[in-house]
Amino acid sequence: MTLRSVIMGTGSALPRRCVDNAELATMVDTSDEWIVGRTGIRTRYIAGEGETTSTLATEASRKALEAAGMVPGDIDLIVLATATPDQTFPASATIVQAALGINDCVAFDVAAVCSGFLYAITVADNMLRGGAAKTALVIGAETFSRILDWEDRATCVLFGDGAGAVVLQAQDTDEATGRGILASRLHADGRHNGLLNVDGGPSTTGTVGKVRMKGQDVFRHAVVNLAQVMREVLEDVGVTPDQVDWVIPHQANARILDATARKLGLDPARVVVTVDRHANTSAASVPLALDTAVRDGRVKQGDLVVLEAMGGGFTWAASILRY
Ligand code: COA
Repeated sequence: MTLRSVIMGTGSALPRRCVDNAELATMVDTSDEWIVGRTGIRTRYIAGEGETTSTLATEASRKALEAAGMVPGDIDLIVLATATPDQTFPASATIVQAALGINDCVAFDVAAVCSGFLYAITVADNMLRGGAAKTALVIGAETFSRILDWEDRATCVLFGDGAGAVVLQAQDTDEATGRGILASRLHADGRHNGLLNVDGGPSTTGTVGKVRMKGQDVFRHAVVNLAQVMREVLEDVGVTPDQVDWVIPHQANARILDATARKLGLDPARVVVTVDRHANTSAASVPLALDTAVRDGRVKQGDLVVLEAMGGGFTWAASILRY
């Protein structure tokens, strides 16, 4: 037997307001044809009054707990990945903790932008296997709409808001066939900070800032890095791409998903795509896509699943798990 972190339940949440490409074309000089052709995105959800990163995160967490058949009191660790916290501090994880009525547990945020959920689940997995906690809520939640420059058509059409969560529990599982996270790899290369960032912050401008991106450079790095890190986790557990049941990628751009799948020889039918509906929700995108595929019956218990993401920094990461 071996101690592994097993996903016991998933949940997600979206803001009330759905914005399609036609509506965006009334705000900036763009078109449905351009956005769909370059990115595959058709709609995104935008947070309105009263909707914040922590309210979306709390709703996703409640659904994940319900799916796991658990209550907030079962949780002794909350790790929340976000680049758009409610406030500079406290950590949004503690706001979710309070909303769930958990008075004492470990709770903190992780910042790795679009790779944030992969970083968060890897940190939680290590803490669970190390005995620091038994049952974790791992959340990716964002309100990127609040840091977009709504006059920059090259970025504002790409992003959306949302949250996804999983309940992760340490369990003794069979070494060969058991469920749980089997391997994870994290990377960062800060030399590329300038290609995708926010032009403000508490310690520099004293403002929140707006998203800035060199799209073509990001695209090129994304395909290479994502194929490389997926290859690493597949090799870690000795499986080939054709043995993977589902890939749950970060949902940045349909063309990145296609190019990465092609580079790795993955069957595109095995790649879960939600970018058309949700756009790029940064740290929320992987758990949102996972929850979508669990609830529509694609991802089943026992399936071999690869999660992957790449984001500002650059950071990039992948995990392989038996669901
Ligand atoms: N609508 C219409 N035209 C637009 C536009 C929009 N929303 N955004 C940019 N354009 C225009 C540009 O101004 C440019 O016009 P020009 O040739 O007259 O100067 C033209 O479209 C091409 O721009 P370019 O940036 O070269 O387009 P592209 O093919 O690289 O596509 C992205 C742009 C952003 C879709 C693409 O680079 C991309 O997906 N990059 C990865 C981004 C990403 O995923 N980031 C997150 C990673 S976590």
